[in-house]
Amino acid sequence: MHVLLHTPNATAGEWHAALAAALPEARVTRWPDAPRAIDYLAVWKPPPELFGAAPAVKAIFNLGAGVDALMRMPTLPAGVPVIRIEDGGMADQMVDYVTLAVLAAYREQRVYAAQQREGLWRQRPYRDKRAFGVGLLGLGVLGQCVAAALARFGFPLAGWSRERKTVAGVRTYAGASELPEFLSRSQMLVCLLPSTPATRGLLDRARLHQLPQGAHLVNAARGDIVVDADLVAALDDGHLASATLDVFHEEPLPRTHPFWQHPGITLTPHVSAITLVDVSVAQIAAKIRRLERGLAVTGVVDRERGY
Ligand code: NAP
Ligand code: GLV
Repeated sequence: MHVLLHTPNATAGEWHAALAAALPEARVTRWPDAPRAIDYLAVWKPPPELFGAAPAVKAIFNLGAGVDALMRMPTLPAGVPVIRIEDGGMADQMVDYVTLAVLAAYREQRVYAAQQREGLWRQRPYRDKRAFGVGLLGLGVLGQCVAAALARFGFPLAGWSRERKTVAGVRTYAGASELPEFLSRSQMLVCLLPSTPATRGLLDRARLHQLPQGAHLVNAARGDIVVDADLVAALDDGHLASATLDVFHEEPLPRTHPFWQHPGITLTPHVSAITLVDVSVAQIAAKIRRLERGLAVTGVVDRERGY
């Protein structure tokens, strides 16, 4: 069995060693060293010509949770299952990232930081948690883990998904028709959606203004779900109080982009949740063994939906 690996990241050697160790029955090679018969691809942001080297591939493993980059590639072979990483050590990290942002917003860290710069000693009134609704856009693997972790803090939790979900302690909304009501009760909006044709540009001027006055946004999903200019305008006109952004239309974020200097924005360089090599390789190896035995696996992308 042959597995062909490609990742442009510095961790390529780590992935190679881990895959080879987890699949001793396979030969694992790294693009562009491609053998003639390739059974499985394990790729992140592959070059378009890579797929031509694997005409009989049985499945394509995406070395991350989001498959938007792969789905956009015209050379991606049709009819071959694309399988994404489910959790892969990312859920825990995402819980930390989102919890930090939620608590910072609720405890008005940005206001106190500004006061400190001014040398101002000014106590702000207690805020009732019951009035600080947290809305999770996306109730998938990451969204549900974040919901479970936030439950202990006592904020009213809501979640929005494509199909209705039942999640303990979370008021659930589904589909476009229920989005306005969901947004209207989200003092803190956390985006954990995949980037698909249905979600790109979702957070535009109109939707951002459906959030309550003074709301906060966290986007740890994909940059193209937000309309950048509309976000800046919503911060500038005071409708939004802050945005915490980990993902951007263009990465690295261009040095001249207004987000860098905006006083209402905290940004990080796509680090909210990093795919952990060992956990993910164990997941991929287990799935390859199931596929080899003709068994079904989870995490297969629905090409129509794009996630
Ligand atoms: P997932 O398990 O596939 O969950 C996606 C959720 O979004 C599901 O609840 C799904 O609804 C919902 N959704 C998708 N399209 C929708 C639509 N049009 N309307 C309403 N809801 C919709 O994905 P995940 O593993 O949680 O990951 C989510 C995303 O996070 C990834 O796609 C990736 O882009 C991003 N991510 C970012 C980082 C980072 O470091 N910044 C790390 C990992 C992942 P249903 O439940 O009804 O299907
Ligand atoms: C990271 O952004 C991922 O999708 O895994």
